[in-house]
Amino acid sequence: MTIPLHPRAEAHGKVIVLGEHAVVYGYPAVAAGLPQGVVLEAQPRPDPRLPVTLTIPAWDLDLELHPASDHPVARACLEVLAHCDGPVTGWAIRGASALPSRAGLGSSAALTVALARLVYGPDASIDDVVAASLAGERVFHGEPSGLDSRVAAQGGVLRYVRGEPPRAINPGAPLPLCIIPSGIPRSTADQVARCRSRLEHLPSVVRPVLIAVGQAVESGIHAIEHGDLDTLGVLFDVAHGLLGALDVSSPALDRMAADARAAGARGAKLTGAGRGGCLLALVGDAPETLTAAFPNLRPLFVEVAAS
Ligand code: MEV
Repeated sequence: MTIPLHPRAEAHGKVIVLGEHAVVYGYPAVAAGLPQGVVLEAQPRPDPRLPVTLTIPAWDLDLELHPASDHPVARACLEVLAHCDGPVTGWAIRGASALPSRAGLGSSAALTVALARLVYGPDASIDDVVAASLAGERVFHGEPSGLDSRVAAQGGVLRYVRGEPPRAINPGAPLPLCIIPSGIPRSTADQVARCRSRLEHLPSVVRPVLIAVGQAVESGIHAIEHGDLDTLGVLFDVAHGLLGALDVSSPALDRMAADARAAGARGAKLTGAGRGGCLLALVGDAPETLTAAFPNLRPLFVEVAAS
């Protein structure tokens, strides 16, 4: 008999507001769930012996989750299904997403969280879903901090420290964010390795940079809770500089950050792993100037409010 799946499950995307990379070493980060995550729907295949399939047209994915597959998405999904004692045959899973994949917006965590929920159902505990998601995230990212999975499962604005229960943050004023995809794909595992190599090479210099990123997070949370967008903007700029010192920015992202500031953003920083992916800008008084500054890059505007 085929192991059952629930018909539908969803998960959030995520944007890291402050704290990427340092979070891997136990410093805090603050991140927000994006409503545009992923929705998965499962239907039985006509022959229950056929492998599970996964089709997500928005991400150009059309896969059989076959144990012999060396496709990273298939391998990651099989890890999640194994963790949850889910089926490997008999189901066709189809997904929709408004997120770009491989852009630092948590697409892989959203996929693995939604897949775990197809097995566990809507009443599963967030901790169980996160544990299953991490089994898949390890295939993509090595040893992730767990931040992406937690935000994908829980949504809202979260202060996250590896291994600790997250704290929900209530913004004192809506956070007007603008996410600008660079169009350059990035690999989280590669960027985490770059940062680690810099830390190992120059620990006495780079450790204080990680500590400063963590301090920027604490000051940023205070600014978010008090609706102090000007201070938060300055912290975005500081964080972008610190991420450059960790070797995970790039000339393209530095140019985009400068262009966003020149177009009136209160501050701008890379978000996620870096070297590609997205820029995150804190919108100033005139969002349309930001759109005009990036005519070919389709900025996504998100207002993050108290949940
Ligand atoms: C990737 O979205 C965020 C990083 O901090 C890696 C991690 O937290 O596992 C770069």
